[in-house]
Amino acid sequence: MRYVVTGANRGIGLELCRQLLARGEVVEAACRDPQRALELRALPTRPGADLRLHACDVSSDASVAAFAAGLAEGGIDVLLNNAGVLGKMESLEELDLDDVKRTFDVNALGAIRMTRALLPRLRQGRGRKVVHVSTKMASIADNTSGGAFGYRMAKVALNMASRSMALALRGERIVSVVVNPGWVQTDMGGPGAPTPASESARGLLALVDRLKLEDSGEFWDYRGDRIEW
Ligand SMILES: NC(=O)c1ccc[n+]([C@@H]2O[C@H](COP(=O)([O-])OP(=O)(O)OC[C@H]3O[C@@H](n4cnc5c(N)ncnc54)[C@H](OP(=O)(O)O)[C@@H]3O)[C@@H](O)[C@H]2O)c1
Repeated sequence: MRYVVTGANRGIGLELCRQLLARGEVVEAACRDPQRALELRALPTRPGADLRLHACDVSSDASVAAFAAGLAEGGIDVLLNNAGVLGKMESLEELDLDDVKRTFDVNALGAIRMTRALLPRLRQGRGRKVVHVSTKMASIADNTSGGAFGYRMAKVALNMASRSMALALRGERIVSVVVNPGWVQTDMGGPGAPTPASESARGLLALVDRLKLEDSGEFWDYRGDRIEW
């Protein structure tokens, strides 16, 4: 199978690439600066696996278009929209709205840019899955602690976009879901997070493998449970 992973150079994206390559998949690994993605470049592969590095800034129309145009021909089976930013953690009074807009541009619009650019390839693929990495912090039902305005809002927008994509693409049997990777030990999650990136990625890939059309449009936890909106 052929996968696209955004934000592939570190954190959960890097771990997704590691595990996909270990099981022999073709990985189109997208990151902002492939030259500096030393860990990604050093990932071991096995027979059948292929790691292909690409530059891609998901906040840039031109960069996403160039990425899509640079892919070798053929279908894409699974798109993993993983790239994301936390943005500033500020109080209501101090909130930097330009930072909120940047957070939206990456976390919400980035997934739309990627999905639209790759739709012709997804239509050619056999997997027919688009998976957007969201967060439980985007669950309105679960928000009892507040704060993180930009991050929460942008990921809620991503959640809604995923549901609408699921409806738009259902007729073509293409699945769109949002997933919560857990609280993960990455630069974003910090060292105090309970879940190693390897465990999160393992859970996410197991979920992705078993996703069916009837699961489309929903919000899933990396352990395989549904999350309340
Ligand atoms: N860690 C957690 O606890 C946690 C919890 C819930 C959800 N998530 C979500 O999981 C995803 C991965 O997070 P992570 O923990 O692995 O974060 P991370 O360690 O901070 O890595 C973020 C990744 O996104 C990339 N990225 C940021 N802006 C980008 C852009 N404009 N274009 C392309 N790539 C960009 C980064 O690339 P650069 O190296 O170039 O910056 C990096 O590869 C995110 O969507 C995040 O919101 C994480």
